[in-house]
Amino acid sequence: MDANPNAAALSIVVMAAGKGTRMKSALPKVLHPLAGRSLLHHVLATTAGLGASSTIVITGHEAAQVEAATQSMERVRCVRQQPQLGTGHAVQQAVPHLGDEGVTLILNGDVPLIEAATARALVAACGGTKLALLTIELPDAAGYGRIVRNVKQEVRAIVEHKDASEAQRAIRDVYTGMLAAPTAWLKRAVMALENRNAQKEFYLTDIVAMAVAEGVAVVATPAAGETEVLGVNSPLQLADLERRYQKRLAEALMEAGVRLADPARFDQRGTLQCGQDVSIDVGCVFEGDVTLADNVRIGAHCVIRDARIDAGAVIHPFTHIEGATVGAGALVGPYARLRPGALLGADVHIGNFVEVKNSTLARGAKANHLAYLGDATVGERVNFGAGSITANYDGANKHRTVIGNDVHVGSNCVLVAPVTLGDGATIGGGSTINKPAPAGKLTVARAKQVAIEGWVRPKKGKPAD
Ligand code: UD1
Ligand code: MG
Repeated sequence: MDANPNAAALSIVVMAAGKGTRMKSALPKVLHPLAGRSLLHHVLATTAGLGASSTIVITGHEAAQVEAATQSMERVRCVRQQPQLGTGHAVQQAVPHLGDEGVTLILNGDVPLIEAATARALVAACGGTKLALLTIELPDAAGYGRIVRNVKQEVRAIVEHKDASEAQRAIRDVYTGMLAAPTAWLKRAVMALENRNAQKEFYLTDIVAMAVAEGVAVVATPAAGETEVLGVNSPLQLADLERRYQKRLAEALMEAGVRLADPARFDQRGTLQCGQDVSIDVGCVFEGDVTLADNVRIGAHCVIRDARIDAGAVIHPFTHIEGATVGAGALVGPYARLRPGALLGADVHIGNFVEVKNSTLARGAKANHLAYLGDATVGERVNFGAGSITANYDGANKHRTVIGNDVHVGSNCVLVAPVTLGDGATIGGGSTINKPAPAGKLTVARAKQVAIEGWVRPKKGKPAD
């Protein structure tokens, strides 16, 4: 075949039309999450860095859902394959959308951890003229297409497991499902495929024997490791890949100095940036974008999503944080819940069973037990008593509570918003406050205590008939 003058033009086809029967799920297989992102997104995030001129995703089973998931992605186009008649038939659907130059890289939507370096190596091995197959040696090759070679060790064909002879089934060198080929040749080859085989499918792998017959060179490129070529077909395989991936993330953090109590009990489902001397106890889950500054300590079993925790803050066990900022030196938990818009200043203390939502707490404010602060502005050094809440919702609208500096709110108070407590105010325990509480004064709003003279406690008598 002629050397391609424009070998640099790269097209990518990601096959994602298969049913994923063994997942036993209504969700299409390629949309199942691994470390917080769908399998398909992992593949597309990798391909995004390869400089391809076009990326085509072949959809079929639950196509609309898969297409919706890729809608916002640049230079990704979905092409439907209906019905799904095999991997060769899948690539046939891409043919009208492929140019006549350069190289096409075929990947699988359910092989999420393929690495950019491997994909590049495969494209380089193709070099615009050869058919390059990504292969791996597996101790148990059952189910895979076997790489069949001649005595000179040249690749002659791929034979699918179901079509393989006993001798071929003994081959451990298998096709991973990923290849790179000169685009113009690939287009012709896939359109010439036939389905005379055990599965009555159009096998993409039959292009290998075609290449050999036509004198197109075929090269096998071994994958660097097993993890990047493992596919997901079942919940068990998905969980296995998840653990492998989490292990990598945990190791990278530990390399950077983060102290994980147990790397096997750590989950990162987004980005996690850590300063120096950060320690994370077992069973924590980090989602979205999380930043932990120097000397932050995270206790066991915390779930932290889209949050910034400033230097020296301590998050005690079983705390749930989402969309919040925790100031330097703050103490949060155990069993605290910070919801979106919780902004805690330096040295704030939020204790057990305290919920904070859309509220700002200034330096040194404390709510140590059993409290709710919603839509509140809380001043410095405020002490918010056990069992006290802001009643921020009138059934239709949310209202704000504004608490000045140095306010003490006793236990079991209800602050009915909108309401303001002036600087230095003290609110007596058990008060329901729905009018402004003046600065510097004790405000009490509860029934007066009385002792009833001459009252006699009832005695047990005969039951009435
Ligand atoms: C395929 C290879 C096999 C290889 C194995 C690696 C073929 C014929 N066989 O087999 O040599 O060892 O992968 O995992 O290619 N798909 C479609 N449309 C279809 C059929 C499949 O888009 O009509 C997609 C699937 O969603 C999947 C990929 O193609 O992402 C592979 O399909 P699958 O059915 O898993 O092929 P295997 O039988 O595993
Ligand atoms: Mg498969």
